[in-house]
Amino acid sequence: MLSYRLKSLIKFVEKEDKIIDIGCDHALLDIDLVKNNYVNNMIVSDIHKLALESGEKNIKAANLTKKIDARLGAGLEVLSESDDINTIIISGMGTNTIIEILNNDYLEKINKLIIQSNNNHAELRTHVIKLGFYITDEEYFVDANKNYINIVFKRGHKKYHKDDLHYGPFLKNDPKYLEFELNNCLKIKKLIPNNKLKYQLKLDLEIKRLRKYLERSR
Ligand SMILES: C[S@@+](CC[C@H](N)C(=O)[O-])C[C@H]1O[C@@H](n2cnc3c(N)ncnc32)[C@H](O)[C@@H]1O
Repeated sequence: MLSYRLKSLIKFVEKEDKIIDIGCDHALLDIDLVKNNYVNNMIVSDIHKLALESGEKNIKAANLTKKIDARLGAGLEVLSESDDINTIIISGMGTNTIIEILNNDYLEKINKLIIQSNNNHAELRTHVIKLGFYITDEEYFVDANKNYINIVFKRGHKKYHKDDLHYGPFLKNDPKYLEFELNNCLKIKKLIPNNKLKYQLKLDLEIKRLRKYLERSR
């Protein structure tokens, strides 16, 4: 059964998306996408042979080898000019790896990114926007006691305030997300020694900002 975390990505997929799922591992998301006709076919890839093999095994068991093309390799390197891909899904990786993957000439042909990064979402937004994308959707949720954020980017330009990049243009209006961040800050505040004044002040400012957005979001 598909986890809530992976299922959460499905709603961002549109019929016209021609997808590569980079770092597919087990390929469970991809099998669900094709089996349930969200897309007709797709490419999946993984840099690790064993991970790809587990995906291939599941694809074969689902009888989808003709519709899901599994390729071994790093990021967008597995694609060539003849591949007709316009959408990238990346989930379960950190922002640094994601940025590395996007640093590829094939990105010119991509007009949509569906990303579930494990960390550094502000850095991810800032970087991807510089690559010529804007944010069309965001989601914060908890699955199996872990916090996740999905961000969808499409080709185009939009001006963002620094708080949009920091909290997310959609998430800065989401009370659940703001409460999660605020609680984190309050926990950290308790742990900081009193003599770390600069850090205390920075954190106080962050708490004030989060409370402001939280008040507005309710
Ligand atoms: C934690 S798993 C996530 C699997 C799946 N996407 C998910 O969300 O459940 C990350 C996968 O990404 C693969 N990976 C890491 N860096 C990669 C890269 N540069 N190119 C392709 N795959 C990569 C790893 O081998 C691993 O199988």
